[in-house]
Amino acid sequence: MISLKAIRYVRLGTSNLDDAVRYAKRILGLELVRRDRTMAYLRSDSRDHTLVYTTDDPQNHSVAFEVGSAAELEAAAVELDNSGHVVRAATKLECEQRWVDSAIMFSDPSGNAIELVLKPAHSGQRYFPSRDAAITGFSHVGLHSKSPSKDEVFWTTMCNARVSDWIGEAPLLRIDPVHHRMALFPSKRTGVQHVNHQVESFDDVMRSYYFLREQNVKIRFGPGRHPTSGAIFLYFDGPDGMIYEYSTGVRLITDENAYRPRAFATVPTSYCAWGSRPDIAEFERVESPRESLDA
Ligand SMILES: [Fe+2]
Repeated sequence: MISLKAIRYVRLGTSNLDDAVRYAKRILGLELVRRDRTMAYLRSDSRDHTLVYTTDDPQNHSVAFEVGSAAELEAAAVELDNSGHVVRAATKLECEQRWVDSAIMFSDPSGNAIELVLKPAHSGQRYFPSRDAAITGFSHVGLHSKSPSKDEVFWTTMCNARVSDWIGEAPLLRIDPVHHRMALFPSKRTGVQHVNHQVESFDDVMRSYYFLREQNVKIRFGPGRHPTSGAIFLYFDGPDGMIYEYSTGVRLITDENAYRPRAFATVPTSYCAWGSRPDIAEFERVESPRESLDA
């Protein structure tokens, strides 16, 4: 069993590094840590970085999770290899580029690029953004999944992820008390589907809502409240077709034995308790067999 301790960073290819950095600083509210011609490191909390833009194919995304020890990383590589995953150790350069001691790379059953990292660098400096969106930290990703049920088995049996809730086929998975650190949405492709940052309060979600509208950033969903995690959310467009989310008030699951995951139907009210309608393909309504019968 691979014990994932934390979600650590996302790496996203971009067709225009300058534009992506400008967006991250001026719109999203991240802090630029360092950059060169091919990579820009940004952070949203006290860790060294939580998002990297690279001058790579905008369809190329990877997500990193932290493991607890060198022995665990080694055991994870063996376990993945034994179960038929193509797994490799990151090169010295790749580790330097990720600011980690060591790392392994593989794909989930859908083909999403996943990295397991050991001893990722922390920052000795307070997070200081150029736009104050009141971000408290990078918190979760949505992933495109060609088979959410297969991917769910991988994350919950090979790894320590637990299902917090389902919306239709899509599992919302936790690896710590936070309701979800990843969600797997049915899709025809792979990659990161959205990137979530938590913000301090409901007021901050609303402040960003008006700010983003003024900046002509397309709002994709919300403001609303997820009935699953209880979080108040706002989804909006980022560079290269990525969707970003601010949310606040995500539920913490502290009693692992008492908690039972719930299955929500694939209807709009499963995504927003207030009636906001998503303009996001993966969240859009699929008619359920029950409704066909009613009609
Ligand atoms: Fe989300």
